[in-house]
Amino acid sequence: MLHSVTTFTDFILEDEEKYPQAKGNLPLLLLQLENAVKIIASHVRKAGLSDVLGQTGKVNAFSEEVQKLDEFSNSLLIKTLTSSGQVHTIVSEELSDAHVASPNGSYDIFFDPLDGSSNIDTNNPIGTIFSIYHHTDNLLKKGSEQIAAGYVMYGAGTVLVYSSGHGVNDFTFDPAVGSFLLSHINIKIPQEGNTYSINEAYFPKYSDPMKQFLSQWKEKPKASARYVGALIADIHRTLLKGGIFLYPTDSSHPEGKLRLTIEVNPIAFLVEQAGGETFATSSSPLDVTPQHIHERSPFIAGSPTNVKEYKKYV
Ligand code: AHG
Ligand code: MN
Ligand code: MN
Repeated sequence: MLHSVTTFTDFILEDEEKYPQAKGNLPLLLLQLENAVKIIASHVRKAGLSDVLGQTGKVNAFSEEVQKLDEFSNSLLIKTLTSSGQVHTIVSEELSDAHVASPNGSYDIFFDPLDGSSNIDTNNPIGTIFSIYHHTDNLLKKGSEQIAAGYVMYGAGTVLVYSSGHGVNDFTFDPAVGSFLLSHINIKIPQEGNTYSINEAYFPKYSDPMKQFLSQWKEKPKASARYVGALIADIHRTLLKGGIFLYPTDSSHPEGKLRLTIEVNPIAFLVEQAGGETFATSSSPLDVTPQHIHERSPFIAGSPTNVKEYKKYV
């Protein structure tokens, strides 16, 4: 019998039927986003051969060296999302100010065009993260107002992980078909995991409770550590295998390093949709009202048991 194949297109069109009153055309926005990430994926796969590697010599809103692939991905996403006509405002890691794409657009989108840039030159996993809201003139919206969010991981395979608030599904790109095909339905994070994921080089700079939390992890009989250095890769493993990801504050990152609107909120939305727990400074980051679009935030995310244990320490 024919295996039922569900493409990302099928999925979002079926999903759209749940929102008969929708003002904009979210499927059109998402299909343009899909086209952009397919092109990014193809450039990532041949990054070693083309000239997208290496530094541009410019710096971004966070005064970090911009890699060419970041810039290419950023301008491609802006172009394709603008041509959808569905996006009013774009907030990107690579743009210091918000950008109005289509004055009649129904949605605002926040994205990290290329996450894990330090992994580009070593052929390690990188990704694209996106977060979608209904358009409002006030951009400083709580993450709980997201209507959809997702990430693409350019890893051994190219996977798209997406939620519109009804659970999390992942789609794997099939080059033979040229589409993302539904591959993991209704992902649920394990209640508890044995893996912790943090850049322990900063250990000396952590608070004492944080140091105690990490030290007791090493006492666990089955403890394991994994840190890829790309948020999407460390989160993807945590979603599938369980455990805890941490990018807390430290003395050199007093607000944390990750960006609230373009990294933390979309990932927190997905982790909570998969039954996981998240934490920023006093609660889920989704409850925080941003003070500015490029605000940074500490971020803890993972299996409920592991995150609850973290909260007991800090
Ligand atoms: P980006 O490449 O978009 O700047 O994101 C990198 C982020 C995130 O992907 C990752 O979790 C974190 O930086 C790694 O930071 P450290 O190198 O300080 O561990
Ligand atoms: Mn990033
Ligand atoms: Mn980035």
